[in-house]
Amino acid sequence: MKTLFWKNNSLFILDQTRLPDEVIYFECKTYQDVIHTIKTLMVRGAPAIGVAAAFGMALAEIAGEDLDKAAHDIKEARPTAVNLFWAVDRIIDAKKAGKTALNEALIMYDEDIKTNQALGMHGSQLIEDGDTILTHCNAGALACVDYGTALGVIRAASGEGKKIKVICDETRPVCQGARLSVFEMQQEGIPVQLIVDSAAGRLMQEGKVDKVVVGADRVARGGAANKIGTLMVALAAKRFQVPFYIAAPKSTFDMEISIYDVEIEERDPDEVLYFGKCRVAPEGTEALNPAFDIIPSDLITGIITEDGILEPL
Ligand code: MRU
Repeated sequence: MKTLFWKNNSLFILDQTRLPDEVIYFECKTYQDVIHTIKTLMVRGAPAIGVAAAFGMALAEIAGEDLDKAAHDIKEARPTAVNLFWAVDRIIDAKKAGKTALNEALIMYDEDIKTNQALGMHGSQLIEDGDTILTHCNAGALACVDYGTALGVIRAASGEGKKIKVICDETRPVCQGARLSVFEMQQEGIPVQLIVDSAAGRLMQEGKVDKVVVGADRVARGGAANKIGTLMVALAAKRFQVPFYIAAPKSTFDMEISIYDVEIEERDPDEVLYFGKCRVAPEGTEALNPAFDIIPSDLITGIITEDGILEPL
């Protein structure tokens, strides 16, 4: 099952808002369609957003639209994952070098899978037979073209024959952990248990977690940004001496800026006020919905990349 694919001059995006109940692809015929899928989380996860954005530029190119305007509009879709900006800029550079946007997007599509496999291979060296690994949100195949970053590490370790168990935080409010990471692990046949986000500390206190591996939307000077709830996991991991790893490709690195200068997306309060379609708070409740956390470097044991494991800066 691919997160997205290109066919007959359209981009087909697996609608992740429908998972795990339905496997439905949304056909993007215009770059505005791609923006819609990014904003609504039909496609989500930093690397997947980047590749979708690249194909959005290809759709604009094929339609003969103004590529500077398309680049501007696509970059406005979500603010935190740097892969979106990286991908659009790479397409612009490719065009300047005389290449087509479509060809470059297809190269990025293939690269994403190879990069994650290399990252997974490096990360699997950190995983021991019998480990229980806690993860937050979904940094799996569904967050990329395929294979995944944090879940790619788990896939690689499992593929080497290591018997591992995975604990997924449900990841309120949108439940990427419950809906997507659990789904992926089940498909892969890797033993998985689901917990509410607030149980992560308890499990670490009891010694039931050997390692934490999560993805990132941006790695910058001083730390990393990842899904809301990751900071609490990292703090608990530090307190209970559980190694905490970020798994992220170099396309997620943005070392020109401080992590504290990264814009943290604020999403619709309704995501907090409702659990799926069920309202969970009284009418008139005000809700805050920051979508990402900043995890300072001193809470990060190492950053797993396609080139090896790096010390956080
Ligand atoms: O809001 P989302 O679902 O796009 O957030 C995704 C995450 O926070 C992931 O952990 C991150 O993008 C890394 S994906 C390899």
